[in-house]
Amino acid sequence: METQRLSGKIISQKIKTAVHDSVLTLPSKPGLAVVTVGDDPASKVYVKNKEEACREVGIVWKQVSLSDKVTEEELFSVVTRLNLDPEIHGILVQVPFPPNLSYLESAIVDAIDPKKDVDAFHPFNVGKFLSCKGAACDTLLLPPTPYGIIRLLEEYSIPISGKHVVILGRSNLVGKPLSLLMLARDATVTICHTKTHDVKEIAKQADILIVAIGKPHSVDATFIKEGAVVVDVGINWSEAGVVGDVDETSVGGIASALTPVPGGVGRMTIAILLENVLKAYHMQMNSS
Ligand code: GUN
Repeated sequence: METQRLSGKIISQKIKTAVHDSVLTLPSKPGLAVVTVGDDPASKVYVKNKEEACREVGIVWKQVSLSDKVTEEELFSVVTRLNLDPEIHGILVQVPFPPNLSYLESAIVDAIDPKKDVDAFHPFNVGKFLSCKGAACDTLLLPPTPYGIIRLLEEYSIPISGKHVVILGRSNLVGKPLSLLMLARDATVTICHTKTHDVKEIAKQADILIVAIGKPHSVDATFIKEGAVVVDVGINWSEAGVVGDVDETSVGGIASALTPVPGGVGRMTIAILLENVLKAYHMQMNSS
């Protein structure tokens, strides 16, 4: 079987072009503020990629870089200032925080104005997409990586309704929110995690297998049913460069479609983030 590559590079470019075209028609520029805490090397790369993408589409970029010595008070006051800044329409607080401040992660997310929460991490936005159904979900701020996966599948006309979607990984960033978005599109969803028995047997039942476990090349052909669609969410840094969670060589010829790493889901995350800034801009303009 020939394995189709689902190109996040091509589809994200299409989305970015649409965002750029929309930005040109606006009376003012949308702005995104990214707050970083500490010096995580992977976060630096993600943030640099987001900055480049904003520049490409005409979104104003503001970065607030805080050291891991920042006080709780300073951190909250940065978010409060950004909430009140009329030139900032989206706020993203990069995670993970350094270990000494990780206890603050969820309180900081709660402090972001939900209308500016372009990560869709805030409980208000999570509640919104928890209860939405079908196309009505598309008007909400949706979490960039999970929604990016859905959009990538839809662009390639891969059906979701009625399919068995197996997600390996239950993170707040990917596994849990993706399960909700898949349910809203009428998939049957199974989530596997570190305590799941017989992961391989469950994975082999998937029509669509989503791999988000953060272990390089840990999923091979033995996890996959012939003809399954495989989405690789892994971004693992190795000496050979960035590699995914899926062993591409092994699943090639067995999967019907596969997202490459790099050039797959990561690109989609950034494109949806840009779309969210635009959505957030319109929400704020309409409510002022
Ligand atoms: N760290 C890794 N990916 C993300 C993301 O999409 N948003 C935030 N805030 N932090 C991240």
